[in-house]
Amino acid sequence: MENKAEINLARKGIEKLIAYVPGKPVEEVAREYGITEIVKLASNENPLGTSPKALAAMQQILPSVYMYPEGSSPALRERIAANYGIESDMVIFGNGADNILLLIAQAFINEGDEVIIGDPTFSVYETTTRIMGGRVLKVPLKNFTYDLAGIKGKISEKTKIIYICNPNNPTGTIVYQDEVAEFMASVPENCIVVFDEAYAEFAQKTNFPQTIQLVKEQRNVLIVRTFSKVYGLAGVRVGYAVGPKHLLGVLNKVVEPFPVNKVAQAGALGALEDQEFLDEVMRVTEVGKKYLYQEFTKMKMTYAPTFTNFVLVDFKRDAEVITKKLLERGIIIRPGQIWQLPTCARITIGTMAQNEKLIAALKEIIKE
Ligand SMILES: Cc1ncc(COP(=O)(O)O)c(C=O)c1O
Repeated sequence: MENKAEINLARKGIEKLIAYVPGKPVEEVAREYGITEIVKLASNENPLGTSPKALAAMQQILPSVYMYPEGSSPALRERIAANYGIESDMVIFGNGADNILLLIAQAFINEGDEVIIGDPTFSVYETTTRIMGGRVLKVPLKNFTYDLAGIKGKISEKTKIIYICNPNNPTGTIVYQDEVAEFMASVPENCIVVFDEAYAEFAQKTNFPQTIQLVKEQRNVLIVRTFSKVYGLAGVRVGYAVGPKHLLGVLNKVVEPFPVNKVAQAGALGALEDQEFLDEVMRVTEVGKKYLYQEFTKMKMTYAPTFTNFVLVDFKRDAEVITKKLLERGIIIRPGQIWQLPTCARITIGTMAQNEKLIAALKEIIKE
């Protein structure tokens, strides 16, 4: 009865939406399986925790949390703007990149507008579009990678936003500078391209697209970034968008008054000072990646070479079954059913001890 009332009251288009299913939380697995030692490799969190400088900054700010934060995160905006060599009103902060993605949809998508995304990709582009009554066109990945030519072929006068998840979640693959330059030459004026670069820090040693140049050229481009991954601040929620003033002005009309709390702002500022932590995160990720590649190959499993802190691996057998058996051993991963990849799973690269625990468990399971 209760459900029926909910369906009738929901805005058009929302009845059919499926609620986001996050990676299983550690607490839930502990309760369900009665295990205390749990390794979570399901949500691409930082296995090294949080930057010590961020932690210190957050502890220091705690006595003043009875006051509202500065709504626009001015100190953070200044810092990010300086890093990019742009003005601070070309940056907007939100309660995680998820919040920024919702803001973008609220600000720009009219009912009936078309949005183009890769498939599979991060689910939030589709959800936020459908919340606003937009229509989602999906272009299958090619070789686990965003197919920019395929996307180009779907652009019409109805296209409002194109989302490019770069590196892509869940595959970890990237599109490169030259491909993006060629693609952007064919994107019409009235269409916005959102580059979701949540994992970009992990891909910097490549010919990664310099999307900031497009922003500086006043193209209709928004770059989305987060402090959740490489900076280890997923729990306090800080993300941002960078774009030309004509787009940022629209986002500023929609943003809530205090989207980023005081603790999160302090933590993000602290993290930006902590190059040592960042270097260590990169080192651990690289070492872990090589180890996982090597062990997957030994087990005759294949993987998409990744530019992130996670790997999409093909177990060549039912990934739901393996995921359940790993859960029984206290290891949480993300099976690929949700992306129509039933034999694959997305696994966060952990510390060496965590990676070794995963591989030992996988070896045991495939022997059974
Ligand atoms: C591609 C991508 N974009 C955005 C987000 C959201 O990040 P945040 O934690 O800042 O909301 C994630 C989180 O997993 C992601 O994978």
